[in-house]
Amino acid sequence: MKSGIIILDFGSQYTQLIARRIRELGYFAEIHPFFISLDEIKKFQPGGIILSGSPASIYDQNAPTPDNRIFDLNIPILGICYGLQVVAAGYGGKVEPSNRREYGKASLEISIPDGIFEGIQNGSQVWMSHGDKVAQIPPGFETMAHTENSPFAAIRNKSRNIYAVQFHPEVEHSRFGKLILKNFAQNVCLLKRTWNMKNYAKKQIFEIKKIVGREKVILGLSGGVDSMVTARLIHDAIGDQLTCVYVDHGLMRRNETEAVVKRFGSAFHIPLRVVNAEERFLSALSGVTDPEKKRKIIGKLFLEEFQKVATEGAHYEFLAQGTLYTDVIESVSVKGPSDTIKSHHNRVQEVMEMIQAGRIIEPLKELFKDEVRQLGLTLGMPRELLFRHPFPGPGLAIRIIGEVTSPKLFLLRQADSILLEELKKQGLYDKVWQAFAVYLPVQSVGVMGDKRTYENVIALRMVESSDGMTADFARVPHEFLAFVSSRIINEVAGINRVVYDISTKPPATIEWE
Ligand code: XMP
Repeated sequence: MKSGIIILDFGSQYTQLIARRIRELGYFAEIHPFFISLDEIKKFQPGGIILSGSPASIYDQNAPTPDNRIFDLNIPILGICYGLQVVAAGYGGKVEPSNRREYGKASLEISIPDGIFEGIQNGSQVWMSHGDKVAQIPPGFETMAHTENSPFAAIRNKSRNIYAVQFHPEVEHSRFGKLILKNFAQNVCLLKRTWNMKNYAKKQIFEIKKIVGREKVILGLSGGVDSMVTARLIHDAIGDQLTCVYVDHGLMRRNETEAVVKRFGSAFHIPLRVVNAEERFLSALSGVTDPEKKRKIIGKLFLEEFQKVATEGAHYEFLAQGTLYTDVIESVSVKGPSDTIKSHHNRVQEVMEMIQAGRIIEPLKELFKDEVRQLGLTLGMPRELLFRHPFPGPGLAIRIIGEVTSPKLFLLRQADSILLEELKKQGLYDKVWQAFAVYLPVQSVGVMGDKRTYENVIALRMVESSDGMTADFARVPHEFLAFVSSRIINEVAGINRVVYDISTKPPATIEWE
């Protein structure tokens, strides 16, 4: 059976969006680096292949190119932006630098209104972002559409089912972009819409039962959405062969541990073991200021704590984690390990070794965050749990810039809880994707009463995003910022200044470390 669409990633910032759009349409899509082997592609049995965009230029010496034999697999192909150039160059066309970089909106003039363009309005807006252009299309291809600056905005080889577009159908600014992707999946690849969370849950429950058999599984629970849904899914599959362990690393928000324990017991009736490891984590982090070092220490200690539980009494063959698709693909960048931006705490060396040994269960590994929430709803979990803001595994350690200490944690918890409390009170919590406070190792001068102060700074971070891969700072009302700032400065001793982070991701990231 054909298993959806495989997306070969050439490094575009939009690659994940392609996968999300295809999945939203009900078709499965999976991203792989462009250098994936032909055998692996065949193993996936794709109904279609999409070639992503790229910041590279096809005529660069080290231009990323796929195994050219993909063109002989007789599988429909859609090239997007750089993908168009891969197709054009692969079939003997000509690509050259454009004398005008085309970036932004363009009007799509369609000359062949069928195939991927069925039902697309002529003259509709598409989103362009490219420096090179196709100067001559390969033999056997025909032009389907042009824009003012791109005479070959869309081309195809009808008999071989190969399509390529210069614009980005996956971005919202391409008005009929989603329909173009749907046409490709439905009319060209002839795929069936089987991707939904009900099917996914069924398949995962079946797989987990098969892999685990009669063995025992231990799951590290963080209290966040991902690990809770993981727990629920695994518990539905194997019942009390699952033990959940909550390691309190002392880096949680105010009252979080109590809330997790309560939530878990009353909502799910799944047994939970709580390990208090605050001292161990804080002493291991003592004197450490480098963000990557902090992450590695935390990831390793987490694992050690689980292993301790795992070796006392019962024997656990498997470790389960709530790793998401975004965690996996952000950790395996197209350019290789040197390009990793942040190492995920679920992907430390020790975990990688366990993955190799087949001892890790990660049933959400194929899902984006919003899909996890849908899965949770399908499993009957309460909405208010599923729509909480994400919270990173390393906790407040990556929100205290510089060394993590108990007094700083105490301050940050107070500031953070004021922010969250006000967001909820003022009906803004669900309007932002993530909100938190960051403790800066900066002192600044202030005046309180008639006295000079020289105290620390809290930065507030509130972002809008759909999956955490890109983000914009939230345009919350100034009155809200003013109110929160004044509460923090008045109520948190040791803080005399509050700033608001107005950076987008990229080039910044959501967390500060
Ligand atoms: P960045 O800072 O990379 O964060 O823009 C994107 C999203 O991921 C969360 N995040 C993490 N979550 N373990 C996690 O479970 C981590 O190590 C980690 N680092 C970042 C972050 O809170 C944001 O939602």
